[in-house]
Amino acid sequence: MARRKKIYEGKAKILYEGPEPGTLVQYFKDDATAFNAEKKDVIEGKGVLNNRLSEFFMTGLNNLGVPTHFIKRLNMREQLIRAVEIIPLEVVVRNIAAGSISKRLGIEEGTPLPRPIVEFYYKDDALGDPMVTEEHIIAFGWASQQDLDDIVALALRVNDFVSGIMMGVGIKLVDFKIEIGRIWEGDYMRLVVADEISPDSCRLWDAHTGQKLDKDVFRRDLGNLADAYTEVARRLGVLPQNGVPRGKPTLIN
Ligand SMILES: Nc1ncnc2c1ncn2[C@@H]1O[C@H](COP(=O)(O)OP(=O)(O)OP(=O)(O)O)[C@@H](O)[C@H]1O
Ligand SMILES: [Mg+2]
Repeated sequence: MARRKKIYEGKAKILYEGPEPGTLVQYFKDDATAFNAEKKDVIEGKGVLNNRLSEFFMTGLNNLGVPTHFIKRLNMREQLIRAVEIIPLEVVVRNIAAGSISKRLGIEEGTPLPRPIVEFYYKDDALGDPMVTEEHIIAFGWASQQDLDDIVALALRVNDFVSGIMMGVGIKLVDFKIEIGRIWEGDYMRLVVADEISPDSCRLWDAHTGQKLDKDVFRRDLGNLADAYTEVARRLGVLPQNGVPRGKPTLIN
């Protein structure tokens, strides 16, 4: 097979040139990082699970008319996506206080918020992804007021869909992060949900026990991350048929 051109290698994924113009192949790695990559590990099987879970949510959103970059899954670790111009923002939606909002505002973790709260962070690792307001976003030209209105509407639709699906399998969607991209079609521009929707980018708590089923398991050393993600995939019925390969291949006599 001809070698593919690598477009970008991030902390959790690699982007390769796709088979047709305007497409990319997104490869999900097993690498886990937290605290702006200060904490790192390889979690066998994580990439396979995130590929499946992101496929599951993006397909559901596409079917509902919420546009995403997802075209199709190619194999265990790769999916075909539309190449987009990423808006340099992390769009966070919160339903329950946890993580940075609890720390900054002194709200106890687990406190339900009176309504979903949408926050924006400027995507810049060197700056530690600082929080920004709509004023900054418009003043610095990252997005227009119209774009922002559309982004908030998209984010809230994703929130309704994912939280509904999760609640159906006994999991609370505490918060999540998405990225939004622009697709140009002639003179027209469309905003679509990009990057990934997976337990790496969501906080998920078991609705009954409160057990964490997301990347906080890794951030806070609460147990085996792949087991937590496997539990989410199992409940959603999206486990790969032969399970997730972990560790080195073993010889069968
Ligand atoms: N459809 C898309 N088209 C182009 N770029 C995309 C698309 N979806 C996601 N990306 C970008 O691909 C990269 C995915 O890699 P990864 O998530 O590993 O990055 P990262 O280490 O988190 O770094 P970053 O801070 O850039 O997100 C991200 O930079 C993301 O913005
Ligand atoms: Mg990323």
